[in-house]
Amino acid sequence: MLENQEQFINLVKEKNKNKNLKYSILTMGCQLNENDSEKLAGMLEEMNFTQINDYKNADLIVFNTCCVRENAEERLFGKIGEIKKIKENKNVILAIGGCMMQEKNMLDKMKSSYPFVDIIFGTHTMQNFPEDVYKAIQNNEKVKDIIDIDGEIYEGLPIKRNSKFKASVTIMYGCNNFCSYCIVPYVRGRERSRKPEKILEEVKSLALEGYKEITLLGQNVNSYKGNDKIKNFADLLNEVCKIEGIERVNFISPHPKDFTDDVIDAIKNNEKISRIIHLPLQAGNSKVLKEMNRKYTKEQYLNLAQKMLDEIPGLTLSTDIIVGFPGETEEEFEDTLDVVRKINFEQIFMFIYSEREGTVASRRKDQIPDEIKHKRFNKLKELYESRVDENNKKYIGTNQKILIEGQSKYNNETFEGRTSTNKVVIIDKNDNYKVGDSVKVKIVEDHRWYLKGKVV
Ligand code: SAH
Ligand code: SF4
Ligand code: F3S
Repeated sequence: MLENQEQFINLVKEKNKNKNLKYSILTMGCQLNENDSEKLAGMLEEMNFTQINDYKNADLIVFNTCCVRENAEERLFGKIGEIKKIKENKNVILAIGGCMMQEKNMLDKMKSSYPFVDIIFGTHTMQNFPEDVYKAIQNNEKVKDIIDIDGEIYEGLPIKRNSKFKASVTIMYGCNNFCSYCIVPYVRGRERSRKPEKILEEVKSLALEGYKEITLLGQNVNSYKGNDKIKNFADLLNEVCKIEGIERVNFISPHPKDFTDDVIDAIKNNEKISRIIHLPLQAGNSKVLKEMNRKYTKEQYLNLAQKMLDEIPGLTLSTDIIVGFPGETEEEFEDTLDVVRKINFEQIFMFIYSEREGTVASRRKDQIPDEIKHKRFNKLKELYESRVDENNKKYIGTNQKILIEGQSKYNNETFEGRTSTNKVVIIDKNDNYKVGDSVKVKIVEDHRWYLKGKVV
């Protein structure tokens, strides 16, 4: 922990002694946001706060915000309204951080409409959180801790992880790609890679603690830059896979433009790497892709996807797709459907284009009406769903290694685990197994959203 912040941690810790104070964190964004929340939780635990799920009963509430699409804002304002009411009767510290707080117009709105918020912090100053909390508690100050430069990478923050067997490890911060629809580069700054030795140290200590599954995180993981020995993302993958005890390695998100052959080889040569790779398509039409500033064409994407599927046996792909990008014609949208028909995606995350102030695409006059966007979204969803059952059938009779995640949600007679392709598999409960165990099963039944397996 940073020396200076350790002092603030100790000061708050002392103040909180015997008070049994509770905190709650509401994470609104992606896995990077989630990983930041785990670090905030780590710092709060050190300060003698205890985590609870129901934020309405907490003494300190953190909202870790996202701004990648518009609906996030409405959700946040609703929640702030709820907390305002609670604050009228009880002393609650409300802290709001994350990507949305890095937007200038949002910050102005917070100041004018929500002056009762105690702490506002951004994505580059999270490591100062203990100091922010101290100022809010000790001096009853309204704290605003936001900077507009690319923050440094701070190592060694305490962390309280959500799971005992799966862990996320951020390998790089920021993004340089400036896809024309996307706000992330504006709120997360430029790309900064963590040192490979720090990443490997973290994964090794996770392995020693019993973690089995690791997800390497970044906005563009395959543009990771290491050192002389571990130069790039492929090298890093190979090193992470060597770590004993780690059974499964995922990464999110790679960019198709940086998907070099050495990364494909690394996946092929390391069975620990999940057999579902996320390959964000965004759109299937080359003109739209150019306007999105994605730096690949429909053909290049198809060739890459096909090459990966051909070279790596058992591989499946997942993707992100945006419908209704400004100017997208019906014909251009058909190209997206065409790619979906050609590449049998195992999973598709579908988004309706959302105008983000400050981005290049938001300045266009040819925005697509909501009604058309929704129609296209439904068409894509129907196409995807029409293939799910058929896709599931390919698992019947196959042997799969699953990692047990726990008891099934709605059935206490069964366990639930996931295949290397991220499919949920249900098996009968068996006293020999516990959470995090890896088990070989034969798939005997398929249902829409899960498979049934028998231990072999
Ligand atoms: N860096 C990652 C994803 C970051 S955001 C990548 O490039 O894959 C996650 C997803 O949100 C994106 O892949 C994109 O599909 C979607 N997204 C980003 N900006 C959006 C916007 N303005 N409207 C709708 N969807 C958007
Ligand atoms: Fe956004 Fe593109 Fe960067 Fe992903 S790669 S975060 S979509 S700008
Ligand atoms: Fe959202 Fe920030 Fe992630 S904008 S998607 S939380 S990087």
